[in-house]
Amino acid sequence: MKHKISLGVNIDHAATLRQVRGRTTSYPDLVEIAQLAKKGGADQITIHLREDRRHIQDADVVNLCKKSPLPINLEMAVNSEILKIALKNKPRWVCFVPEKRAELTTEGGLDIKKCFKQIKKMTDELHKKNIKVSFFIEPSIEQVELSAHAGADAIEFHTGHWVLATGAKKNQIWDRLVSSADLANWLGLRVHAGHGLDYAHAKSITKLNFLQEVNIGHSLICYALAEGLQAVTKKMKNELK
Ligand code: PXP
Repeated sequence: MKHKISLGVNIDHAATLRQVRGRTTSYPDLVEIAQLAKKGGADQITIHLREDRRHIQDADVVNLCKKSPLPINLEMAVNSEILKIALKNKPRWVCFVPEKRAELTTEGGLDIKKCFKQIKKMTDELHKKNIKVSFFIEPSIEQVELSAHAGADAIEFHTGHWVLATGAKKNQIWDRLVSSADLANWLGLRVHAGHGLDYAHAKSITKLNFLQEVNIGHSLICYALAEGLQAVTKKMKNELK
Protein backbone atom coordinates (compact mmCIF):
# COMPACT_ATOMS: atom_id res chain seq x y z
CA MET A 1 0.00 0.00 0.00
CA LYS A 2 1.28 3.46 -0.95
CA HIS A 3 1.38 6.23 1.63
CA LYS A 4 2.41 9.85 1.26
CA ILE A 5 6.05 9.68 2.31
CA SER A 6 7.21 12.38 4.70
CA LEU A 7 10.76 13.68 4.64
CA GLY A 8 12.85 14.23 7.74
CA VAL A 9 15.89 16.35 6.93
CA ASN A 10 18.84 15.37 9.08
CA ILE A 11 20.87 18.50 9.82
CA ASP A 12 23.71 16.87 11.82
CA HIS A 13 26.26 17.79 9.18
CA ALA A 14 25.33 21.46 9.27
CA ALA A 15 26.42 21.20 12.92
CA THR A 16 29.56 19.29 11.85
CA LEU A 17 30.63 22.28 9.73
CA ARG A 18 30.15 24.58 12.71
CA GLN A 19 32.01 22.26 15.10
CA VAL A 20 35.12 21.98 12.88
CA ARG A 21 35.70 25.70 13.54
CA GLY A 22 35.26 25.21 17.28
CA ARG A 23 32.03 27.26 17.33
CA THR A 24 33.93 30.48 16.57
CA THR A 25 31.50 31.30 13.73
CA SER A 26 27.93 32.55 14.00
CA TYR A 27 27.03 30.32 11.03
CA PRO A 28 25.45 28.00 10.26
CA ASP A 29 22.45 28.82 12.44
CA LEU A 30 20.60 25.50 12.83
CA VAL A 31 17.19 27.12 13.32
CA GLU A 32 17.71 28.98 10.03
CA ILE A 33 18.76 25.71 8.37
CA ALA A 34 15.55 24.12 9.70
CA GLN A 35 13.54 27.03 8.28
CA LEU A 36 15.15 26.53 4.85
CA ALA A 37 14.35 22.81 4.95
CA LYS A 38 10.73 23.71 5.76
CA LYS A 39 10.58 26.11 2.81
CA GLY A 40 11.74 23.22 0.63
CA GLY A 41 8.88 21.05 1.87
CA ALA A 42 10.52 19.02 4.68
CA ASP A 43 8.12 17.51 7.21
CA GLN A 44 10.46 17.19 10.17
CA ILE A 45 13.99 17.94 11.33
CA THR A 46 16.13 15.03 12.46
CA ILE A 47 19.13 15.44 14.76
CA HIS A 48 21.37 12.94 16.48
CA LEU A 49 22.72 13.86 19.91
CA ARG A 50 25.70 11.51 19.99
CA GLU A 51 27.43 10.49 23.21
CA ASP A 52 30.66 12.00 21.83
CA ARG A 53 28.85 15.25 20.85
CA ARG A 54 30.71 15.32 17.53
CA HIS A 55 28.09 17.47 15.82
CA ILE A 56 24.78 18.27 17.58
CA GLN A 57 25.30 19.77 21.06
CA ASP A 58 22.98 19.77 24.10
CA ALA A 59 22.21 23.46 23.49
CA ASP A 60 21.13 22.65 19.91
CA VAL A 61 18.56 20.17 21.23
CA VAL A 62 17.15 22.79 23.62
CA ASN A 63 17.12 25.47 20.94
CA LEU A 64 15.66 23.36 18.14
CA CYS A 65 12.98 21.76 20.32
CA LYS A 66 11.85 25.31 21.20
CA LYS A 67 12.38 27.15 17.93
CA SER A 68 12.33 24.70 15.02
CA PRO A 69 9.48 25.44 12.61
CA LEU A 70 9.10 21.66 12.15
CA PRO A 71 8.75 18.77 14.62
CA ILE A 72 12.04 17.33 15.90
CA ASN A 73 13.01 13.68 15.58
CA LEU A 74 15.83 13.09 18.07
CA GLU A 75 18.10 10.15 17.34
CA MET A 76 19.86 8.80 20.41
CA ALA A 77 21.65 5.77 21.78
CA VAL A 78 19.96 3.60 24.42
CA ASN A 79 21.61 5.72 27.08
CA SER A 80 20.03 6.98 30.31
CA GLU A 81 21.89 10.33 30.30
CA ILE A 82 20.61 11.20 26.81
CA LEU A 83 17.16 9.92 27.78
CA LYS A 84 16.99 12.61 30.49
CA ILE A 85 17.71 15.25 27.83
CA ALA A 86 14.97 13.85 25.59
CA LEU A 87 12.41 13.74 28.41
CA LYS A 88 13.20 17.34 29.31
CA ASN A 89 13.08 18.77 25.78
CA LYS A 90 10.20 16.70 24.43
CA PRO A 91 10.94 16.22 20.73
CA ARG A 92 7.97 14.87 18.72
CA TRP A 93 9.88 11.60 18.11
CA VAL A 94 12.83 9.76 19.55
CA CYS A 95 14.61 7.28 17.31
CA PHE A 96 16.81 4.81 19.18
CA VAL A 97 19.99 4.00 17.27
CA PRO A 98 23.11 1.95 18.06
CA GLU A 99 26.25 3.94 18.67
CA LYS A 100 29.93 3.12 18.64
CA ARG A 101 32.44 5.82 19.47
CA ALA A 102 34.87 5.07 16.64
CA GLU A 103 32.31 4.75 13.82
CA LEU A 104 32.09 7.33 11.03
CA THR A 105 28.30 7.12 11.05
CA THR A 106 25.61 4.73 12.34
CA GLU A 107 26.89 1.47 10.90
CA GLY A 108 24.02 -0.94 11.43
CA GLY A 109 20.70 -1.43 13.17
CA LEU A 110 20.00 -2.04 16.85
CA ASP A 111 19.97 -5.56 18.23
CA ILE A 112 16.69 -5.27 20.14
CA LYS A 113 17.22 -8.69 21.75
CA LYS A 114 20.37 -7.42 23.47
CA CYS A 115 18.81 -4.21 24.85
CA PHE A 116 15.18 -5.37 25.15
CA LYS A 117 14.58 -4.60 28.84
CA GLN A 118 16.27 -1.23 28.75
CA ILE A 119 14.72 -0.03 25.49
CA LYS A 120 11.24 -1.12 26.58
CA LYS A 121 11.59 0.78 29.87
CA MET A 122 12.88 3.90 28.11
CA THR A 123 10.11 3.68 25.50
CA ASP A 124 7.52 3.56 28.31
CA GLU A 125 9.07 6.66 29.90
CA LEU A 126 9.02 8.55 26.58
CA HIS A 127 5.39 7.54 25.98
CA LYS A 128 4.43 9.00 29.37
CA LYS A 129 5.62 12.37 27.99
CA ASN A 130 3.73 11.83 24.71
CA ILE A 131 6.93 11.34 22.76
CA LYS A 132 6.63 8.79 19.92
CA VAL A 133 9.38 6.23 19.56
CA SER A 134 11.01 4.49 16.62
CA PHE A 135 13.76 1.86 16.61
CA PHE A 136 16.48 1.91 13.94
CA ILE A 137 16.87 -1.73 12.89
CA GLU A 138 18.06 -3.91 10.04
CA PRO A 139 15.23 -5.31 7.91
CA SER A 140 14.67 -8.57 9.80
CA ILE A 141 11.53 -10.43 10.90
CA GLU A 142 13.00 -11.06 14.36
CA GLN A 143 13.95 -7.41 14.92
CA VAL A 144 10.50 -6.21 13.79
CA GLU A 145 8.73 -8.65 16.14
CA LEU A 146 10.92 -7.65 19.07
CA SER A 147 10.36 -3.94 18.30
CA ALA A 148 6.60 -4.44 18.46
CA HIS A 149 6.91 -6.30 21.79
CA ALA A 150 9.10 -3.54 23.20
CA GLY A 151 6.40 -0.95 22.42
CA ALA A 152 7.84 0.92 19.43
CA ASP A 153 5.47 3.13 17.43
CA ALA A 154 7.62 2.79 14.33
CA ILE A 155 10.64 1.00 13.01
CA GLU A 156 13.17 2.78 10.82
CA PHE A 157 14.94 0.39 8.48
CA HIS A 158 18.67 0.93 8.00
CA THR A 159 18.94 1.35 4.23
CA GLY A 160 22.72 1.88 4.17
CA HIS A 161 23.62 -1.69 3.22
CA TRP A 162 20.97 -1.80 0.51
CA VAL A 163 22.25 1.48 -0.97
CA LEU A 164 25.83 0.20 -1.15
CA ALA A 165 25.04 -3.35 -2.33
CA THR A 166 24.93 -4.37 -5.99
CA GLY A 167 23.47 -7.24 -8.04
CA ALA A 168 21.98 -10.25 -6.27
CA LYS A 169 22.94 -8.93 -2.83
CA LYS A 170 20.94 -5.74 -3.44
CA ASN A 171 17.89 -7.82 -4.44
CA GLN A 172 18.27 -10.00 -1.34
CA ILE A 173 18.29 -6.97 0.97
CA TRP A 174 15.31 -5.53 -0.92
CA ASP A 175 13.35 -8.76 -0.36
CA ARG A 176 14.13 -8.50 3.37
CA LEU A 177 12.95 -4.87 3.37
CA VAL A 178 9.68 -5.90 1.71
CA SER A 179 8.89 -8.81 4.08
CA SER A 180 9.95 -6.81 7.17
CA ALA A 181 7.81 -3.81 6.11
CA ASP A 182 4.80 -6.09 5.55
CA LEU A 183 5.17 -7.58 9.01
CA ALA A 184 5.74 -4.18 10.64
CA ASN A 185 2.54 -2.86 9.09
CA TRP A 186 0.63 -5.99 10.13
CA LEU A 187 1.85 -5.49 13.71
CA GLY A 188 0.64 -1.88 13.66
CA LEU A 189 4.06 -0.24 13.40
CA ARG A 190 4.79 2.73 11.15
CA VAL A 191 7.47 2.03 8.56
CA HIS A 192 10.32 4.52 8.26
CA ALA A 193 13.64 4.21 6.41
CA GLY A 194 16.95 6.02 6.31
CA HIS A 195 20.69 6.04 5.90
CA GLY A 196 22.72 6.64 2.78
CA LEU A 197 19.69 7.63 0.69
CA ASP A 198 20.49 9.85 -2.26
CA TYR A 199 18.77 10.99 -5.47
CA ALA A 200 19.73 7.67 -7.11
CA HIS A 201 17.84 5.63 -4.49
CA ALA A 202 14.97 7.96 -3.64
CA LYS A 203 12.57 6.71 -6.34
CA SER A 204 13.33 3.05 -5.58
CA ILE A 205 12.70 3.36 -1.85
CA THR A 206 9.25 4.83 -2.52
CA LYS A 207 8.33 1.41 -3.97
CA LEU A 208 8.57 -0.11 -0.49
CA ASN A 209 5.01 -0.91 0.62
CA PHE A 210 3.78 0.88 3.75
CA LEU A 211 6.73 3.30 3.83
CA GLN A 212 5.62 6.50 5.56
CA GLU A 213 8.81 8.40 6.29
CA VAL A 214 12.43 8.71 5.20
CA ASN A 215 15.21 10.54 7.04
CA ILE A 216 17.97 11.91 4.84
CA GLY A 217 21.03 13.94 5.83
CA HIS A 218 24.45 13.54 4.27
CA SER A 219 23.42 13.58 0.60
CA LEU A 220 21.18 16.62 1.09
CA ILE A 221 23.92 18.64 2.79
CA CYS A 222 26.32 17.69 -0.04
CA TYR A 223 23.77 18.57 -2.73
CA ALA A 224 23.13 21.89 -0.94
CA LEU A 225 26.84 22.72 -1.29
CA ALA A 226 26.77 21.87 -4.98
CA GLU A 227 23.60 23.85 -5.67
CA GLY A 228 24.47 26.79 -3.43
CA LEU A 229 28.16 27.49 -4.05
CA GLN A 230 27.66 29.43 -7.25
CA ALA A 231 25.22 31.86 -5.63
CA VAL A 232 27.33 32.49 -2.53
CA THR A 233 30.52 32.95 -4.57
CA LYS A 234 28.72 35.63 -6.55
CA LYS A 235 27.65 37.36 -3.32
CA MET A 236 31.19 37.28 -1.97
CA LYS A 237 32.58 38.69 -5.23
CA ASN A 238 30.10 41.57 -4.87
CA GLU A 239 31.35 42.25 -1.34
CA LEU A 240 34.90 42.38 -2.68
CA LYS A 241 34.14 45.03 -5.31
N1 PXP B 1 18.32 7.68 10.03
C1 PXP B 1 19.11 7.33 11.08
C2 PXP B 1 18.51 6.56 12.18
C3 PXP B 1 20.46 7.75 11.14
O1 PXP B 1 21.23 7.39 12.17
C4 PXP B 1 20.97 8.56 10.10
C5 PXP B 1 22.37 9.05 10.16
O2 PXP B 1 22.50 9.95 11.23
C6 PXP B 1 20.10 8.91 9.04
C7 PXP B 1 18.80 8.42 9.02
C8 PXP B 1 20.54 9.77 7.90
O3 PXP B 1 21.55 9.12 7.17
P1 PXP B 1 22.31 9.89 6.02
O4 PXP B 1 23.02 11.04 6.65
O5 PXP B 1 23.22 8.87 5.46
O6 PXP B 1 21.26 10.37 5.04
